Amino acid sequence: MKPKTIVVVGASRGIGREMVKLFASEPNAKVLALSRNSDRMRKAFSEFKNVECHVFDLTTEGVREKCEAIFSTVEKIDILINNAGYLVNKPFEELTREDLEHCYSVNVLSVIETVQAVLRNMHDGHIVNVSSIGGVQGSIKFPGLTAYSTSKAALCSFTELFAEEYKDSSVRMNCLALGAAQTEMLEEAFPGYVAPVSAEKMAEFIVQFALTGHKWMNGKIIPVSLSTP
Ligand SMILES: NC(=O)c1ccc[n+]([C@@H]2O[C@H](COP(=O)([O-])OP(=O)(O)OC[C@H]3O[C@@H](n4cnc5c(N)ncnc54)[C@H](OP(=O)(O)O)[C@@H]3O)[C@@H](O)[C@H]2O)c1
Repeated sequence: MKPKTIVVVGASRGIGREMVKLFASEPNAKVLALSRNSDRMRKAFSEFKNVECHVFDLTTEGVREKCEAIFSTVEKIDILINNAGYLVNKPFEELTREDLEHCYSVNVLSVIETVQAVLRNMHDGHIVNVSSIGGVQGSIKFPGLTAYSTSKAALCSFTELFAEEYKDSSVRMNCLALGAAQTEMLEEAFPGYVAPVSAEKMAEFIVQFALTGHKWMNGKIIPVSLSTP
């Protein structure tokens, strides 16, 4: 692999943690790992000299400015993976304004601001947004996921809009709409449910896609799911 700088947002656990480890196992890679939990990141990535951990809450003010400050410490960024996610599983009428704001803040608003920040440092490269199959029209839906799945649908829509606005640039953006993977998020939201794919396997796919998918695709929403529909 040519030397690459990769940013993984949402890196402390689940699929994000596995992606950081895979990227970091390439000695030519430098990985910026962002999430709220510093201890978990330091523990998970202690063996890798090429991982830099940044503690960051995506629900707070000034995401764009904080990202600009972090990103300005490297010469250029080749890959940005917007992987952080927040899931609320609640009956529709029990959803609060706070639930909705938290979901949209992590799953949509902070992604848009992170992308605004990265453009200064990404001259050609690939931005991968991690959405959910539940955010894709005509796909399987689950009761209780109004806040989460509508926010993931907005992320899909953002991908198409960004790709159109930046189609003459060398920055490509795609969106992976994941099906169930065995992670802490899934275990907390659906206790006892066993996913057909592990966090490690899902991470393998996303890493490969992030490295190569932009050669063939831009503005695409790709379902990564074993379920039908
Ligand atoms: N697992 C599945 O079945 C599944 C299915 C479809 C889509 N997805 C999507 O795939 C992505 C990864 O999912 P996962 O299951 O690996 O989730 P996870 O285990 O809950 O990990 C989510 C990551 O996001 C970070 N994060 C959450 N809120 C944050 C905040 N306010 N500020 C900064 N970082 C924050 C968490 O770190 P901290 O807590 O340390 O901040 C964590 O590293 C998510 O976007 C999810 O929606 C997952």
